[in-house]
Amino acid sequence: MHDITGDQANGALLGESPSILRIGEQLRKAARIEVPVLITGESGTGKELAARQLHLLSERRHAPFLKVNCPAIPGQLFESELFGHEPGAFTNARDARAGKFEQAHKGTLFLDEIGELDLSLQSKLLHALQDFRVVRLGGVTERTVDARLVCATNRVLEEEVAKGLFRVDLFYRINVLRIEMPPLRERPSDVPLLMKHYIQVYSQRFRKAPAALSPSLMRLLECYHWPGNIRELENLAKRYVVLGDEEHVIASLREPEELRPTISDAIDLNAPLKQQTKRAVQHLERKIILGVLQANKWNRRKAARSLDISYRGLLYKIKEAGLPSVRSTRPPLTPVPIDEAVEAVRATEIM
Ligand SMILES: Nc1ncnc2c1ncn2[C@@H]1O[C@H](COP(=O)(O)OP(=O)(O)OP(=O)(O)O)[C@@H](O)[C@H]1O
Ligand SMILES: [Mg+2]
Repeated sequence: MHDITGDQANGALLGESPSILRIGEQLRKAARIEVPVLITGESGTGKELAARQLHLLSERRHAPFLKVNCPAIPGQLFESELFGHEPGAFTNARDARAGKFEQAHKGTLFLDEIGELDLSLQSKLLHALQDFRVVRLGGVTERTVDARLVCATNRVLEEEVAKGLFRVDLFYRINVLRIEMPPLRERPSDVPLLMKHYIQVYSQRFRKAPAALSPSLMRLLECYHWPGNIRELENLAKRYVVLGDEEHVIASLREPEELRPTISDAIDLNAPLKQQTKRAVQHLERKIILGVLQANKWNRRKAARSLDISYRGLLYKIKEAGLPSVRSTRPPLTPVPIDEAVEAVRATEIM
């Protein structure tokens, strides 16, 4: 479970890229109509923040916003969390308690990670969503709840439905309006703004005054593939503020899965020596180029100088090695072992 932290807890979705402006527009439109909204997107793209925004933009903003994390395992505890219970409904149920449904009356009920929900709980949830009438565990009285339903998931629910892991009728009930949060790598123009924002937030929080990030690092971050999206960016900003060192930021960037070297050192018993040596040399050269580019913060002119080859020669080698150009797509980065300092920051991490 991730809790929204920092000043963004109820804050706006920052960003000026067309895709994030479109999300803002969709949220404003969705806030005006009382239909269920499903927010999808990769982890850390701001689904929860969007759900909170939706609530704040709606007429229900003065009523509660209730978040429920949907579990993967069946359990009475979750049912009781959703629907409440009467005294004696089960062991330890001493007092009567209203569930999240009831508490969200007049407000918004946010079902987070709905794709995780166990099948038996899915049917119970569907039942409650049919007419928004709930009965507490161990009770008989039906209570009608007036709540706006917002769900979020990072799973592709259509696939879960096809696999028989998610009820199709529940899917149709929650998927009335759909908002798809864009991954950060698809809106790189927002990276500088977000980075500056979070550096400022953590500078204030930790009473530190780190230097502004160098333009070359900022360029590198704009090209980075951000597998953990904005949560990863926020952690990186925090790390930079705490350690005040760009090297640590670079070291914590992750290499894209698909760019990991695929050629193993294994010897092929049936291939000619010449061919195997060529492959091994290419592999080694690729590693060296990557390492030097990384050490030079992806500045290709500097890298060419330290490799003592021409700039054009380096560009050719980058292309030959199948590495993307830094401006176009994702920079491949060989992970550098996380040192003790970074380990120390882990204790305060949000992830
Ligand atoms: N557009 C944005 N502007 C500023 N901060 C953002 C933005 N989007 C997300 N964040 C921040 O990034 C972090 C992750 O956001 P959030 O928890 O909403 O993502 P999520 O999609 O729900 O992630 P998960 O799937 O992992 O639960 C939060 O700290 C949030 O405040
Ligand atoms: Mg979330």
